[in-house]
Amino acid sequence: MNHCARTLQTLLPTLHPTKNSVVARINRNATPLLLSSRGIRLQSQNRAFASMAVADIISIADRLDIDQHASMKPTPLCASVLDRSIQPEEAAHFIKSEFPIRCAERIRMIECLPYQDEDELLEVHKRHIQSFLTMRRIASNDLEYNEKEFISVVSEILSYDEDTILLMMKGLHQLSKERPDEMNAQYVNSFLDAFLLNRLGTEVMLKQYLAYVGIRGNVFERSCNIMAVTRDTAQAVQRLCVRKTGVRPKITLEAASVLKDDKEGVPIFSCIPGAISFVLQEILKNSCHATAMSEGATDYNEIAKRPISVIISADEKHVKIRVSDRAGGIPFEVGKNVWSYLYTTANTNVQDATELAGFGVGLPLSRLYTQYMGGSMNLVSLPGYGTQAYVFLPRDTISQCEVVPDLDHEWHVQEPIGEFIL
Ligand SMILES: Nc1ncnc2c1ncn2[C@@H]1O[C@H](COP(=O)(O)OP(=O)(O)OP(=O)(O)O)[C@@H](O)[C@H]1O
Ligand SMILES: [Mg+2]
Repeated sequence: MNHCARTLQTLLPTLHPTKNSVVARINRNATPLLLSSRGIRLQSQNRAFASMAVADIISIADRLDIDQHASMKPTPLCASVLDRSIQPEEAAHFIKSEFPIRCAERIRMIECLPYQDEDELLEVHKRHIQSFLTMRRIASNDLEYNEKEFISVVSEILSYDEDTILLMMKGLHQLSKERPDEMNAQYVNSFLDAFLLNRLGTEVMLKQYLAYVGIRGNVFERSCNIMAVTRDTAQAVQRLCVRKTGVRPKITLEAASVLKDDKEGVPIFSCIPGAISFVLQEILKNSCHATAMSEGATDYNEIAKRPISVIISADEKHVKIRVSDRAGGIPFEVGKNVWSYLYTTANTNVQDATELAGFGVGLPLSRLYTQYMGGSMNLVSLPGYGTQAYVFLPRDTISQCEVVPDLDHEWHVQEPIGEFIL
């Protein structure tokens, strides 16, 4: 029996009929989960939680529907499918059955947190339930495919989800402060890795539908010019840095490839440009922020001596991007903490974090994105000198399939492709 089916059994006696609906108090005695990045274990700790339960007013039928979908196995998307020109109706048909499974899974993940009593987490939970019910209604009412209506549902769901990460981070930072033993970094990191990887796959699926109906560009591109993506991203980050700090760090770009066909060394390969841009943006934001905060940064000549360098290199099978700065590096004792969603040295508290720095999500989320693309990410710090970030991507992305975390099944991010650290 799956976890939420078990939760449901414990919940049924607590259902309270009200005038028009039924109040389902969920997760009163939920079983906490131990999530690990390489798989998920259920840990039974028969104890009642003192925390306020996530409470929602939904009908019993909807509650059962969510739990039933949460127990179903998601179907991973493969790049070879995204690459095909698919009729919007076919894509909509897939989304109508697949979205509820993934969304219900994320609802369950929130409900399985040992504590949810933060407004932000309750808000994310509520929005997920809303999205689930919206999609289920259109799936059951709309036997004929109504493109206009479906586009508006997909757009609405994407907009509900826009600030999910921000809300989750505010809620989880607060919970980890209040309950440091249970909501410790390891627990929060494993939870977010699973939750956000599931969310990323859903986002790709919905955005690709909007591409099929011509509302936006393809999420997956067969011939992506990585230099153009990097240049646009670097310019956007520079503008952000000037706006936030008044300092404009210099960013240099170079490309080199062993393949003669890669003109001027720039590899053209299949990838998800939006995801690569996100990763580079987070790395460059960190480098720009650290450069702008370093000593003498207000002096133009000093900044000119510390350019941020981006090198794209490629062979037949891989693309590797190195971003290096001369902004003083990260102290050795920080170690793997940089990969924690709860670690940041930005001079802000989480309530007023800026777009440039402040939540601690940039690096762990970027690493998750590279893993989603079948790649990997590493950092090398030279304390007192600077930091180098390495992003490693497979060049043949067409053969890649995503991993969709699901509490009922072991899930594994792909083994990182060879990192070639000599
Ligand atoms: N290039 C760098 N130079 C110096 N320190 C860095 C660099 N990159 C990361 N760090 C350190 O690692 C921490 C975590 O980085 P991360 O990008 O995950 O979060 P953040 O930048 O603090 O906030 P966010 O990215 O969510 O806005 C930073 O706060 C900083 O202390
Ligand atoms: Mg950052």
